[in-house]
Amino acid sequence: MIYNNTDFNNKSILITGGAGFIGSNLAFYFQENFPKSQITVFDSFRSNENFHNGNLKSFGHYKNLIGFKGNIICGNIVNQKDLSLLDKYKFDFIFHLAAISDTRVYDQEIVMRTNVNTFTDILEIAQSHNATLVYASSAAVYGNLPSPQTEGSEDPQNPYGYSKYIMDKMSHNFSLKHPKAKIVGLRFFNVFGPREYFKENTSSMVIQLGHQILDGKAPRLFENSHQISRDFIYIDDVIQANLKACVSEHNGTFNIGTGISRNFQEIADILQKELNTDLGTEYFPNPFDGYQSNTQANITSSIKKLGFKPNFSLEKGIKAYIPEILRLHKSENL
Ligand SMILES: NC(=O)c1ccc[n+]([C@@H]2O[C@H](COP(=O)([O-])OP(=O)(O)OC[C@H]3O[C@@H](n4cnc5c(N)ncnc54)[C@H](O)[C@@H]3O)[C@@H](O)[C@H]2O)c1
Repeated sequence: MIYNNTDFNNKSILITGGAGFIGSNLAFYFQENFPKSQITVFDSFRSNENFHNGNLKSFGHYKNLIGFKGNIICGNIVNQKDLSLLDKYKFDFIFHLAAISDTRVYDQEIVMRTNVNTFTDILEIAQSHNATLVYASSAAVYGNLPSPQTEGSEDPQNPYGYSKYIMDKMSHNFSLKHPKAKIVGLRFFNVFGPREYFKENTSSMVIQLGHQILDGKAPRLFENSHQISRDFIYIDDVIQANLKACVSEHNGTFNIGTGISRNFQEIADILQKELNTDLGTEYFPNPFDGYQSNTQANITSSIKKLGFKPNFSLEKGIKAYIPEILRLHKSENL
């Protein structure tokens, strides 16, 4: 799918976090649609190190990049020496996705060092290359604010959300100081789709419930899941947003969701319909205090200023994803 008139062939593109879910999809998008684009992935990949919550420190996985023909640099964005490996390139476009993406890392120092301090370097690299910068912000900047969540009213409730909120402020201030700089932040809501599998228990409920069903088990949901809803957006629409953002005439931060909120019970029900099962649902008490009950992106601004138009409903996204859910269930162990 081609989303704008720009020819990315012969353009040099940096994707930080390119071994992760969204970054690797973006790398393949460019490879498949613009075979002469020069794509560089920069990612720390995964090590055996864990955070206090038991999750891996980074989720990048080589399997997300099998078949990718561009340059791959294994490096940590926190490390200046690793960043200097980029010096020999001249980028036209930078997509900055590398981050601690796990919203349940509560060590404030490491989240701020990884997501915020490094953003100063990324802004400066983009400026020195005269490159357009598109970076990942998050719906987490809104915390528990009521739906629909709208740009301009933020209230982050965890270190991750706060780090993205500060990145948005840094980008705003940088744009004021450098009026010619092209910088767009995308506040992704709940993304699902191929290549998220290696995010393990931080992957979407679509893949997690899909695999429970394929194991022959009733999908497990929090009690009252029909009242807990999110704005779930399929990866193809997130790629569309990145492509529209990188030719945008407007700097700023934009919500990227469908504008529609769907509940977790609906995910389980759509999956069972697609997989032809009737396993019922197993409910268990929600262990989290202050769990957000509803998110729904106000996408007025991204429609108007980016020309963004979500194409995938939850049903359509799950249907498109089913073959990959089945393939992963056969080839990987969750
Ligand atoms: N997936 C979602 O629903 C969602 C929602 C909102 C925002 N986001 C943001 O989008 C971006 C991509 O998310 P994702 O879902 O693809 O997550 P992901 O964890 O799959 O991708 C992040 C990548 O960054 C890499 N990384 C982590 N720390 C690094 C470091 N110090 N140096 C270099 N690389 C490092 C990881 O190895 C991983 O490959 C992130 O910035 C995330 O915060 C994602």
